[in-house]
Amino acid sequence: MDGLVCISCVMSAHEPKAPYGREVYEPGENLPIELPESPFAIFQSWFDDAKKAQRQPNPNAMCVSSVDSEGRPSGRIVLCRGIDADPGHVVFYTNYESRKGKELLEQRVCAATFHWDHFDRQVRLEGEVVKSPMDESDHYFSRRRWESQLGAWASDQSEPIGSRQAMLDKVAKKMDEMGLDLDSIVHGDEKAPEIARPPHWGGFRLYPRRVELWCGDTGRIHDRALWTREMTREGDDFSFGSWSATRLQP
Ligand SMILES: Cc1cc2nc3c(=O)[nH]c(=O)nc-3n(C[C@H](O)[C@H](O)[C@H](O)COP(=O)(O)O)c2cc1C
Repeated sequence: MDGLVCISCVMSAHEPKAPYGREVYEPGENLPIELPESPFAIFQSWFDDAKKAQRQPNPNAMCVSSVDSEGRPSGRIVLCRGIDADPGHVVFYTNYESRKGKELLEQRVCAATFHWDHFDRQVRLEGEVVKSPMDESDHYFSRRRWESQLGAWASDQSEPIGSRQAMLDKVAKKMDEMGLDLDSIVHGDEKAPEIARPPHWGGFRLYPRRVELWCGDTGRIHDRALWTREMTREGDDFSFGSWSATRLQP
């Protein structure tokens, strides 16, 4: 370990000062010497650490990547709404007819990447997606604020629209159709309306076959470990082999 600290000193003395970004990585809490059988306990504890730290508004933000039919990748931030350690998946919610929704349903492959800057930690998941069970999506949708529920009906996510005003008009029209009066909800006695989940909106479960945990360390000799498992799929059902783990060079 002394050797690594020494490398860090030498590097920081000779590296030009960056206009942004980290110049020196402090020694952090590395991955355990003996890698556990599954990555999920560490992943969950990192997720919990990020939430508890309250240093970023969306500690559950992750970049979800999909590919189109020609293998062209695209990424966007979505919020992770659940982690299930056994057999191991994460959940996020979106519009099934959005660009990502269509690509995920057609290609079925997906990657998700978390970055917790304050902790020098990154988690990468790569695998396959299925729609969440409908009752799970219903339950989650029922707990959202009514404005978000309305938005899920009003927005044809990823489709072009002529102007911002046209989008606001679309929301107002949807409210009319649903018999909702904004004034009486906001200023009057009217309770928040009950809005059912639209069929084009719901959860995806990402079941990874590769999970990589990364933590920054001195001298950029970061600590990385990769877990992989066999995964077979029939329709929406998966069967899983056991995880095997290895360390990776940074
Ligand atoms: C912090 C943050 C959280 C977001 N969370 C979600 C989310 O949970 N679900 C979602 O569909 N879009 C979410 N978005 C918007 C997406 O990044 C994206 O713009 C949208 O889903 C459309 O992507 P697409 O056209 O590639 O399908 C979020 C954006 C940000 C910046």
